[in-house]
Amino acid sequence: MTTMSACRRSVAGGDRRRQRIANGFSRAAASYDAGAQLQRAVADDLLARLPTLEGVQTLVDVGCGTGYLVSRLAEHHDGLSIGLDIAPGMLDEARRRHAGHAIQWVTGCAEALPLADGSVDLVVSSLAVQWCDSLEGFLNQAARVLRPGGWLAFTTLCEGTLEELHRAWQQVDGERHVNEFMAEARLIDTLKTPGWQWYEVAMATRRTHHATPADTLRALKRIGANTITASAAAGGGLSGRRRFAQLAQTLETWREPTGIPTRYRVATVLMQRRHLQD
Ligand SMILES: C[S@@+](CC[C@H](N)C(=O)[O-])C[C@H]1O[C@@H](n2cnc3c(N)ncnc32)[C@H](O)[C@@H]1O
Repeated sequence: MTTMSACRRSVAGGDRRRQRIANGFSRAAASYDAGAQLQRAVADDLLARLPTLEGVQTLVDVGCGTGYLVSRLAEHHDGLSIGLDIAPGMLDEARRRHAGHAIQWVTGCAEALPLADGSVDLVVSSLAVQWCDSLEGFLNQAARVLRPGGWLAFTTLCEGTLEELHRAWQQVDGERHVNEFMAEARLIDTLKTPGWQWYEVAMATRRTHHATPADTLRALKRIGANTITASAAAGGGLSGRRRFAQLAQTLETWREPTGIPTRYRVATVLMQRRHLQD
């Protein structure tokens, strides 16, 4: 295994989109855990669905952030646990938070995993791969590093996520200011890729509530999820007092007793790498 990943080299080589995403998450690392209640709940649900860790020697958490998921797994696992993330700031925070765990922290990219072929028994990932250029790229990498019969368990976000914010922006200027999320049908199609002998998908809608529209935007910033990727950048940033007032007015129309809602459409996927004899 190399610790300097291909992805980091490609970031250095000018991949501005990935660099922006990495910088955004690095900046948010210190505030991430305090704002990551939804992310915790999603990771806990993924943990509850995992196959047994018996026989697992090496596991990797891709897009591990501050290390919650990999540290929970490491508590029940004597083999090698790797926490991998594209954002060095997140990994620094993870190292600090889980200093007592024997976890190897690696800077790397989900679409260019710096791990040897067939060297991993379990790949997990929670709410990270929606930041990838393509889900196919991540699945190909997971298939490459997993040994035959190994498991991949991940969560990602689908269309419908941040719908309220998207619709509110549409009413302000008709432009897209919110990242696009994969349609469920496309997710299912992509999972039918060769190399896997089986898969299962569970879809769930989760919602968070915030006291004000400004809190809604601040909550995304706090966890580093406010970076707008290229496809959504056409309308410019989330700035301008008048534009914000218009946005807030629309968000207010959807207020519920517990606050302004934000919707997340979460896919939880479990897959098994094809055995050699299949
Ligand atoms: C919303 S956070 C989730 C963190 C953690 N898995 C959790 O559940 O709390 C997304 C994480 O994915 C990482 N990430 C984004 N794009 C990535 C990529 N291409 N490769 C690896 N990590 C990536 C970010 O740096 C960030 O730490």
